[in-house]
Amino acid sequence: MLFLGVSKPLTIAIDGWSSCGKSTLARQLAARLGYLYVDSGSMYRAITLYLQRKGIDLSDTSAIEKTLPDIRLDFQYNSDRQASDILLNGENVEAQIRDLSVASGVSAVAAIAAVRKIAVARQQELGARGGVVMDGRDIGTVVFPNAELKIFMTADPEVRVGRRLLELSSKHPTITREEVRENLRTRDHIDSTREVSPLTQAPDARVLDNSGLNMQQQLDLALSWVGEILNA
Ligand code: DC
Repeated sequence: MLFLGVSKPLTIAIDGWSSCGKSTLARQLAARLGYLYVDSGSMYRAITLYLQRKGIDLSDTSAIEKTLPDIRLDFQYNSDRQASDILLNGENVEAQIRDLSVASGVSAVAAIAAVRKIAVARQQELGARGGVVMDGRDIGTVVFPNAELKIFMTADPEVRVGRRLLELSSKHPTITREEVRENLRTRDHIDSTREVSPLTQAPDARVLDNSGLNMQQQLDLALSWVGEILNA
């Protein structure tokens, strides 16, 4: 695609429900465009992992606020994944933050204003020069309200449960469909009803429902939107 190398680098915000394939699309889009990919959820997950390791009660907001200065988050490019791994105080925790135990606690941690404040500041710093694809829940509404392209991803809830089950079953062979459904339901509820930056669709976001699309089809659709914007 000729427009890609020479154009002004865009900021692309991808938001949506859990397990909708946001990171897959964001990673592929960034690789195709030569942009930086940032998985903003990994920051909330790494903070959650730290708090769990320290045995801090995830409902104890003031203890969490006191602990935040002890947490340093960095990213390190991993060429196998074509994405950056997250480092928690220097330790690569990219695999650990995907555990079900972290997934169960992260929505509560991501609902804390002080946690969001430091995560959002870091995300804005990482994307300050444009040429970035960032996925999360509040990227198009709070982190980059002026992003040139905002995508809101959604998919049929049962399709999402199926995808998540597939992803988790190698590590958790006994996990049931109902457990996965419950985890997603709870996360969706907390993410969309919390007081601070709840998951909402930005009015200028383009909706991508990928229930019936494969990865190539969703990438092609997103690339056609990029083309439209760059050629406008
Ligand atoms: O996208 P994910 O499943 O890795 O996100 C983990 C959690 O963090 C999820 O409960 C939503 C929350 N999150 C958020 O509140 N804001 C973001 N920008 C990204 C994730």
